[in-house]
Amino acid sequence: MKDRLYFRQLLSGRDFAHGDPVAAGMVNFVYLIGDRQTKTCLVVDPAYAVQELLDLAAQDEMEIEGVLATHFHPDHIGGDLMGHSVQGVQELLELRPVQVHAQRIEAPWIQEMTGISKTDMSLHDSGDLIHVGEIPIRLIHTPGHTPGSQCFLVEGNLVAGDTLFLQGCGRTDLPGGNSKDLYHSIHDKLAKLPDETVIFPGHLYSEAPSATLQETKSLNYVFKPKTEEEWLRLFSG
Ligand SMILES: [Fe+2]
Repeated sequence: MKDRLYFRQLLSGRDFAHGDPVAAGMVNFVYLIGDRQTKTCLVVDPAYAVQELLDLAAQDEMEIEGVLATHFHPDHIGGDLMGHSVQGVQELLELRPVQVHAQRIEAPWIQEMTGISKTDMSLHDSGDLIHVGEIPIRLIHTPGHTPGSQCFLVEGNLVAGDTLFLQGCGRTDLPGGNSKDLYHSIHDKLAKLPDETVIFPGHLYSEAPSATLQETKSLNYVFKPKTEEEWLRLFSG
């Protein structure tokens, strides 16, 4: 399936939403994941300039047929970002009525942030497999940054949202955050993936835009604590 995989990483303020200071400042990554043969793709975390994202897919002759939402924060799916109105899934669905794939527990948070309805969403549990064309995508529930944060595993690539960056991890001091949950998501779930898995984060918070899990484990301080107690001593509060 690897030769059929369509995978694009797009940086806000650089690859789309030019001239938008919020998009440029937040350095969010949007991903297009699809099947080159069926010419269909899913968009991960559409925000800031949704028509441009549809156009970028169309330039590659790909049609966006759904949304994958890593979590409910407005820089990922739109909504009010500290007084700035950010475009996201609501505006995308007006242009293209597709389903938003989310973890079940994240649904009320997404509805409140964006105003989309429950029928706009396909709700999932951890481990669910969805397909775009013939490309399988595994959904991994990784609570901690938010209750229903999820990562996407596709052909050895992990789209990690704000659960894991190449340096550091998502905050746990925002509403719904839980430091203990994040420890278990990173150490019991993500750390157990094959070392050669390539991590694609939700923000460009490091020089490189992606790295293998092996490199990330050796460089990222979040892999230093080896027990929940050590983790909480370092990261809580
Ligand atoms: Fe976030």
